[in-house]
Amino acid sequence: IKKVTTETLRKMKFDKEKITMLTAYDFTTAKMVDAGGVDAILIGDSAANVMAGFETTLPITLDQMIYHAQSVVRGTDRALVVADLPFGTYQSNPEKALESAVRMMKEGGAHAVKIEGGKEISKSIKKIINAGIPVMGHLGLTPQSIYKFGTYKVRAKEEAEAEKLIADAQLLEELGCFSIVLEKIPADLAKKVTESISIPTIGIGAGADCDGQVLVYHDMVGMNKGFSPKFLRRYLDLYTEITGAVSQYVKDVKSVEFPNENESY
Ligand code: KIV
Ligand code: NA
Repeated sequence: IKKVTTETLRKMKFDKEKITMLTAYDFTTAKMVDAGGVDAILIGDSAANVMAGFETTLPITLDQMIYHAQSVVRGTDRALVVADLPFGTYQSNPEKALESAVRMMKEGGAHAVKIEGGKEISKSIKKIINAGIPVMGHLGLTPQSIYKFGTYKVRAKEEAEAEKLIADAQLLEELGCFSIVLEKIPADLAKKVTESISIPTIGIGAGADCDGQVLVYHDMVGMNKGFSPKFLRRYLDLYTEITGAVSQYVKDVKSVEFPNENESY
């Protein structure tokens, strides 16, 4: 198997081949997502939501993210494995940012890290990249800043925020980021950003003109019943499938339909 690298993704943008990314947080899911052929797997801090049940991504710790990363890396043969650095582990100063990134690479086994923000965290990004660690940027709706934004609505609809986003994207390229996630911004703006930089953009709720797409695994397989933003396409209805299977199992055990003779020793 030919492993996907950051260079592969750059080349895919150049060749106009769309990049695919999904999240995974555990070994078994990583195996399926990798077998399905995605180019990159993201250990998102959305683990705080879908794995741990927190309302925001803020509470998850670096140790917890490292545990998720280790599990995903063991299940991945082909995809590039990118891991989020969680809230509070890179914003305060570049030294701490590098320390966090090193731990994620060394202990977590990730191939790259993703961090949220532009100009404000440029020194941290530079420091991490200088150490030889590939960095994926993340602009637009950056969920670690939810208490600044106040809502999870579309970002950069106004001129000033759109201009800043374009400048930040260009800065991230200059700093040496290998790719940028664009989350929940107008499709026109995402197209403009994508055309103005030579590193690939990976969109979520950012239209079809990004160089690639990413979704949260639990959302795209329909496990997350209550979450249905406009940008989400559900490829399965696993919530219904799984609760159905569980209630059938309950019924079978109660009625002594399970286990049968073939299922007994
Ligand atoms: O944490 C996450 O899942 C993410 C993606 C939505 C891009 O950052
Ligand atoms: Na994230």
